[in-house]
Amino acid sequence: MLKVPSNAEAEWAALQARGRAFLGTEMAIMGGAMSWVSERHLVAAISNAGGFGVIACGSMTPALLEAEIAATQAMTAKPFGVNLITMHPQLDDLVQVCLRAKVGHVVLAGGIPPGPALRAVKDGGAKLIAFAPALVLAKRFAKTGVDALVIEGSEAGGHIGPVSLTVLAQEILPHIRDIPVFVAGGLGRGEAILGYLEMGAAGAQLGTRFAASTESIAHPNFKNAFIKANARDAIPSIQLDERFPVIPVRGLVNEGTKKFLAHQAETVQKFQAGELDKTAAQLSIEHFWAGALRRAVIDGDVQGGSVMAGQSVGMVTAVNSVADILAELQAQAVAALVARAERR
Ligand SMILES: Cc1cc2nc3c(=O)[nH]c(=O)nc-3n(C[C@H](O)[C@H](O)[C@H](O)COP(=O)(O)O)c2cc1C
Repeated sequence: MLKVPSNAEAEWAALQARGRAFLGTEMAIMGGAMSWVSERHLVAAISNAGGFGVIACGSMTPALLEAEIAATQAMTAKPFGVNLITMHPQLDDLVQVCLRAKVGHVVLAGGIPPGPALRAVKDGGAKLIAFAPALVLAKRFAKTGVDALVIEGSEAGGHIGPVSLTVLAQEILPHIRDIPVFVAGGLGRGEAILGYLEMGAAGAQLGTRFAASTESIAHPNFKNAFIKANARDAIPSIQLDERFPVIPVRGLVNEGTKKFLAHQAETVQKFQAGELDKTAAQLSIEHFWAGALRRAVIDGDVQGGSVMAGQSVGMVTAVNSVADILAELQAQAVAALVARAERR
């Protein structure tokens, strides 16, 4: 029997129901926090368009975060979240800033959520979202009171784990039913999001596509680099020597990524020649990218800076408004459901 599109729309809405209820939004789509990019304009635009914007706190001080939250609240009355990095030395103060400002959802990224921060978020009445890189941790987080999970595959932009979303989703989604799970990494089309919702995901988180949106404050050079790039151009940072670990970060290949290899080679040579001890050599490698994301996003230095991007970058073909991106994702998912009904 041929189903009319409105049924497909209802089915799409129903598949998102859990995620929408958790986020308090029209669509179960989160804008992944992106340092320097996910500030008041992009976050408010995503929330105003029916998605869920998330402020990237990054290395902001509590005072800066407080101002950013207030500015975002002035631009949207819709729910949005704040992403805090667990390594931040003032994590507990940042949590208090979120709670005082009545932020409804706090995302703790960059590691296992520390107990005191987790309890503070929960006692303060906000919902806690954490990243689960494996099923054992997903199960543990669900037991310790985390309210929702993001599973982010290695296709994602920025800091990444080793496992793709295709595999993480199969390992985790069938086993975590008590709390909502949002999928992230490499998502650029509605059909793919639909597939994960049907596997049991509550919603999806996208970064790269929103970074190149009209409302993103990223420099035009940054957005143009996204438009030109193919999936294969977004590669993880390369580690030259196993004695000097490099944190895997996915971004576009450029002069900076080439210089990083040369810098590692030089540093290893200095270490071997006894000119640098191991700690100094490791620090020299770690400091190479200091300030590099800001240089790319804000100053537009897409050759020397760090142009973090997911493999989804190949699906960025133009600078579109956040509302158009969300409408396109929805249209693709609904069209897939209509096509399926027609096959029956
Ligand atoms: C430029 C950029 C910066 C990012 N910065 C952060 C960050 O500060 N904190 C974080 O938890 N994730 C960060 N991410 C990851 C995103 O929140 C999101 O999970 C990821 O982009 C999803 O994959 P996609 O880009 O393929 O959509 C960043 C991603 C990009 C592209």
